[in-house]
Amino acid sequence: MKYGIMPLLLALAVLGPGRATMAAPKQSEAQIQRRVEALLSTMSLDEKIGQMTQVDMNALRDKDDIRKFGLGSMLSGGNSAPADNSATGWARAYDEYQSWALKARLKIPLLYGIDAVHGDNHLDDAVIFPHNIGLGATHSPELVEEAARVTAAEVKGTGIGWTFAPCVAVARDERWGRTYESFGEDTGLVSRLGAAAVRGFQGSDLSDTASVLACAKHFLADGGTTDGIDQGNAQCDEAALRKIFLPPYAATIKAGVESIMVSYSSWNGVKMSSNKRLLTDVLKGELGFKGILVSDWAAIDQISPDFTNDVDVSINAGLDMIMIPNGPGHDNNYVQFIAILKQLASDGKVPLSRIDDAVRRILRVKFMMGLFEHPFTDPALTAEVGSSEHRAAARLCVRASMVLLKNRNHLLPLSKNVRHVAIVGQAADDLGVQCGGWTVDWQGKPGRIRQNGTTILQAIRQSVAAGTQVTFSADASDVAGADAVLAVVGEMPYAEMKGDRTDLNLSEQDRALIHRAKSSGAPVAAILLSGRPLILGSALEESDAFIAAWLPGTEGEGVADVLFGEARPTGKLPRHWPASMEQVPVGNSSLFPTGFGLSY
Ligand code: BGC
Ligand code: BGC
Repeated sequence: MKYGIMPLLLALAVLGPGRATMAAPKQSEAQIQRRVEALLSTMSLDEKIGQMTQVDMNALRDKDDIRKFGLGSMLSGGNSAPADNSATGWARAYDEYQSWALKARLKIPLLYGIDAVHGDNHLDDAVIFPHNIGLGATHSPELVEEAARVTAAEVKGTGIGWTFAPCVAVARDERWGRTYESFGEDTGLVSRLGAAAVRGFQGSDLSDTASVLACAKHFLADGGTTDGIDQGNAQCDEAALRKIFLPPYAATIKAGVESIMVSYSSWNGVKMSSNKRLLTDVLKGELGFKGILVSDWAAIDQISPDFTNDVDVSINAGLDMIMIPNGPGHDNNYVQFIAILKQLASDGKVPLSRIDDAVRRILRVKFMMGLFEHPFTDPALTAEVGSSEHRAAARLCVRASMVLLKNRNHLLPLSKNVRHVAIVGQAADDLGVQCGGWTVDWQGKPGRIRQNGTTILQAIRQSVAAGTQVTFSADASDVAGADAVLAVVGEMPYAEMKGDRTDLNLSEQDRALIHRAKSSGAPVAAILLSGRPLILGSALEESDAFIAAWLPGTEGEGVADVLFGEARPTGKLPRHWPASMEQVPVGNSSLFPTGFGLSY
């Protein structure tokens, strides 16, 4: 066995106590303030505006633009990656961008951001954790903190110091394609796990080698839009808004989060990117948020058809940094943004005090992160990306995320000495399906999407005794004579925008697959890979045992551990499970309530 129990225990011993010793911060707030003021006082308006500009790597016309405009930040969006998609390839690309920033007059380092939302998911060689819905099922702040800590170390191994995570959406309608990015439907659960993730990412000091800046997103009520429409409109009164969606921000701010991303969505018809009262009065004022408020991907463009107006309104509303995915040759690109903001500032439409406030926030975080002292990648961390310790930590999360919904006649756990087990369903041997969206690709895709990782089928083969016969047929054509059939079914990968569904029924093919498996006469255990509860209908009735495995990531061993009794199922539903589409939005009755989960 590749990862037996020893490495698991070792991993716990190595990773566990890291946070026990909370050292005093290396620089006091007062020291940082002094450095911020000293630097700010030497900056021109152009240099200040540069700091507020975040450009996607695919949009950058010329690396020298980093120096020329004194860009404060860059990102790699879901489809932006260097040609060499390994940790070393990313580190090389990052270091090169950084070297351009350090050629500018003031040598202010770049703050580089990426969506490491379940591990450093763009990379070929990083460990991929379960998506948040699976972590939600663990109900464990310790595991979530650990997952974030490992992710931080892997992100830092590529030089990058900022992850656009955790998503602290309280997803209220599973038709929303981002439901899996949410820890659950319950405000308290999201708050607890969101705060744990922040502690894991940022560590006890943001300037630690293996800490990254966290980003709570998407402010506010991204998971509360009518009918679960992505980027849609949340319709509720302010009391509901505050009660359901605001607490995770209070919790993550308390945990020290130093950046927050503003949602594409609207509240009662007003785009969040333009909502000064919520961004400035509530978030920065009432909740005392001192960090960076960053916009989402071209989100300000949705305020109005006039980009000048969008810049004016969003910066005045309280956004400190604007995420710009467009370069010259496209509308609303970063060169235009810089020129527009300069004009607005010169005309007094955006007060200098607002610009100084934004730049202070950005510089403060950069100083806190120790970016000025350590702008480049630490190669020791690069070497750790995808290490067996990191994989063992993910495997523990996978185990703990399995929710057992049904177990007729104690079918599970299967004995490792079972004579013949038949595995059916393409998803059983599909790393892409098991990882879901935001993996290598923005939307994710089925198949062998990356080099490293263990499919559920591979993991089962590693788990069973030497004499056990394991057969695999994607279409359940090869089940004759089996003592048990394991059917792996589920959703094809998707992410934001493309993942919204009005029909959440398990597909016809998957129902037919389970039906064929059942006709073999052997007992059937179904494993569902999905980003949300699906309407199961006959598939649940025809299965003797049923596991909701969510989107577990690369460590398929964690699934096999539960199937074969290496670990007992402990996962509990992080959201209600509807019996039919009528039960879909939160608040309706359900087939299984939140918190449901059987064990052995
Ligand atoms: C998503 C964010 C993400 C950003 C950068 C947006 O479309 O809503 O969650 O952080 O893109 O990739
Ligand atoms: C996503 C980006 C992605 C892009 C692709 C955006 O909405 O947030 O991360 O790369 O779309 O067009």
